[in-house]
This record gives sequence, structure tokens and C-alpha cells, in this order.
Amino acid sequence: MTITELSTGRLLLRQWRPDDLEAWAAMNADPQVREFWPNLLTRDEAAASLEHFRDDLERRGWGWWAIEVSATGEFIGMAGLDPVDDDAPVTGVEAGWRLARAAWGHGYATEAAHAVLTFGFQTLQLLEILAIAVAGNERSRALMRRLGMTHDPAEDFDDLSMPPGPLRRSVVYRLTADRMSPPPFDNRPDRAPDSSAA
Ligand SMILES: CC(C)(COP(=O)(O)OP(=O)(O)OC[C@H]1O[C@@H](n2cnc3c(N)ncnc32)[C@H](O)[C@@H]1OP(=O)(O)O)[C@@H](O)C(=O)NCCC(=O)NCCS
Repeated sequence: MTITELSTGRLLLRQWRPDDLEAWAAMNADPQVREFWPNLLTRDEAAASLEHFRDDLERRGWGWWAIEVSATGEFIGMAGLDPVDDDAPVTGVEAGWRLARAAWGHGYATEAAHAVLTFGFQTLQLLEILAIAVAGNERSRALMRRLGMTHDPAEDFDDLSMPPGPLRRSVVYRLTADRMSPPPFDNRPDRAPDSSAA
């Protein structure tokens, strides 16, 4: 299967490599990154998830891609698409993202997610893409809003795979293909200093 790579102004979404493990394990051992999961991942768990993502991409050609910064080759996290888990009360394909803490606040998640949604609508011909988050995950919800996704409180649900408490309440955001917007940011590579006056 040909594995699709997605490139944006600053990022490359690509197949996982064994040498991503160090950074992937470190970010999944970071309580800030894992704030909305009940546990941190051990190195073995991180390695197993990397293999799982790798296998899915190998078999299907799309899924949870590794993200690197094109200019430096630095691995910063993941973003992609996957069918919603069977035990969720909604069905369809969801988009997701997880970046190392140092990569937050640069617009990288929006840039990667926009490429992922474009791939989902244009290449996979999906009519709608979902995103699901713990209700309290305001950074992820802000990203969903920046992408033009909308939330209907009537779809909020309790995720029973989570322990009782604040991690259980979940929200669903949706975007239909006809409402996909152009990038909400300038994702062109950095330009040289303005020379138009010359
Ligand atoms: C959710 C998550 C990916 C969001 O990352 P993020 O960096 O906040 O999101 P973006 O990439 O869209 O960046 C937006 C921020 O970058 C800033 N920014 C800087 N340069 C920018 C640029 N060139 N373009 C756009 N935004 C830019 C924006 O102003 C915004 O800042 P703010 O948060 O202070 O408002 C990140 O918090 C994360 O990995 N969390 C842990 C994992 C997780 O919870 N995943 C989701 C599970 S549902």
C-alpha cells in the first residue's frame, strides 16, 4: 500500500520511524500532554502504539501520521484520521492530534489538522469528519473551532471507558465537506524580508 504523505508550509506528515520512539515516549510520559487521559504511557506502551500506527498506515495508506517540522526534521507529535471506536455513541471517521508540549502555541496542530481534513474530504471523499474530546480539553476544542468544526451539546456523552470524574464527559464536533474552509492562517513558508520596495 502506498503510504500518503501530507506536506504543508512548515510540516511533513509521514510514516513512523523507529527513531521517533524517544520523542514519542517522552511526550506520552508528560502529564501536561496526557492531562485528558487517565494514565501516562510507559515506554513499552508508547512503542506498542507507534507500531500500531505504523501498521495501520502500512495497511491502509492513511491513519495517525507522525509529524515532523520540515525545516529541521524534528518529530513533534501526531495527527490523522481513524474510524471512531465502536463503543462511542457516534459513528464515522474522526480526526485527532497530539503534540509535544514544546510544539504547542505555534499553529502546528491547526496546520496539520487542516491538511488531514483536506485529505479526508478530497482523497477519501468523506462527507463529514468528526472530532471527539474530553469536555474540559479547551485547547483541543479551540483547535476544532479554528478548523470550522461545530458542536451540538445534544451530542455530549459519557465515555464509560474513562474513570468516573471529569474525564468522562465528552463532546463531539463535526465538519461537513461543503463547509471546509481555507487555512485559517498563513501557512506559507517564511518569506525573505520584504524586497518589494526595490
Ligand atoms: C490540542 C493541541 C494539539 C493544540 O495545540 P495548540 O498548539 O494549542 O494548537 P495550534 O497548533 O492550533 O496553535 C494555536 C496557538 O498557536 C498560536 N500561533 C503561533 N503561531 C501561529 C501561526 N503561525 N499560525 C497559527 N497559530 C499560531 C496561536 O495564537 C494559538 O495560541 P493560543 O493557544 O495562545 O491561543 C495540544 O494542546 C496538545 O497536543 N494537547 C495534548 C494532547 C491532546 O489533548 N490531544 C487532543 C485529544 S482530543
